Amino acid sequence: MSSLSVSSNGTSKYAVKVDDLSITYRTTFERKPTLKTALVRFGRGERAVKEVHAIKNVSFEVRNGSAMGIIGANGAGKSTLMRAMAGILPPTSGSIEVWGRASTLLALGVGFNNALSGRENIILGGLASGLSRKEVEERADQIAEWTELGDFIDMPMRTYSSGMSARVGFSVAVHMRPDILMIDEALSTGDAHFREKANAKMAELRESARAMFLVSHGLGSIKEMCNEAIWLDHGTLMMRGEPEEVVDAYMKFLKVKKSATTTEDI
Ligand SMILES: Nc1ncnc2c1ncn2[C@@H]1O[C@H](COP(=O)(O)OP(=O)(O)O)[C@@H](O)[C@H]1O
Ligand SMILES: [Mg+2]
Repeated sequence: MSSLSVSSNGTSKYAVKVDDLSITYRTTFERKPTLKTALVRFGRGERAVKEVHAIKNVSFEVRNGSAMGIIGANGAGKSTLMRAMAGILPPTSGSIEVWGRASTLLALGVGFNNALSGRENIILGGLASGLSRKEVEERADQIAEWTELGDFIDMPMRTYSSGMSARVGFSVAVHMRPDILMIDEALSTGDAHFREKANAKMAELRESARAMFLVSHGLGSIKEMCNEAIWLDHGTLMMRGEPEEVVDAYMKFLKVKKSATTTEDI
C-alpha cells in the first residue's frame, strides 16, 4: 500500500510525515529486447528490468517551523526523497503526508526551457506551481528583479551560466510563498553575493513557511540554515538529529578530516 496525501485545512503540528517510505525505480536495461535476447535471458533466469531501491523504509516527521537538512553521498536518495515529498514521484510503499503546498527548487535547471528567456521561464514556473495567470503576472517583475540579472532576464536561458540559472530557479521557488520550501543542491553554484542573499531569503521564509528542506553538499550551510538534519546512505536513514551531530557522524563515516575546506566541499 502506498499513498501521498496533501491537505490544506489540517491544523497539524506537522508539516510533513513520512512513514515507512520505500521507493524503487524500475528501469529496463535494454530498450528494445529482441526475441533472441529475451529468450536467452529467460533461459538464464535474468529479468529485463533493473530495480534500484532508492529509498528503503524511511520514516520521519517534520514539525511546523523546522528546517531540515538532508545529507549523504551521491546516489544516497536525497533527490528521490525530495521528489516524493513534492508529489512528483509516488511512493512504492509506505506513505507521505504533506500539510500545505510545496514549492520546490529541485536539481538545477530541471524544468527550465532553455530556448525561452528567464522571464518566460518565471511565468511558466509560476503556472507550473499552481498559481493563477493573474498571480503569476503580479509577481513576475518582483521575481525577475530579485535575480539581479539585468537585461539578461530577457535573453534565452541557454545563454546563462549555471549560476545565473540558479538565481532564476531560486527566485521562482522562494516567491511562490510556499508552505513547504524544498531546495536541492541549488546554492552551490551561486557566487558569494548571491549565496548571502539566498541565505537571507531562506531565513526569512523559514519564519513564514511551515517547513524547509535543504539538500546540500555544503555541510556548513546545513549547520547554519537548519535546525535538524537527516543522513541518508544507499536509501537508508542512517541518523537524524541536530545538524551538528549528524554532520559530524557523516564526516566520521567518510573518514574525512574536519577542516574548513572539507566542510564546504563534501
Ligand atoms: N529516474 C531514475 N531511474 C532509475 N534510477 C534512478 C532514477 N533517479 C535516481 N535513480 C537512482 O536512485 C538512487 C538515488 O538517486 P538520487 O535520489 O538522485 O540520489 P542523490 O540525490 O542522493 O544523489 C541512485 O542509485 C540513482 O542511480
Ligand atoms: Mg541529488
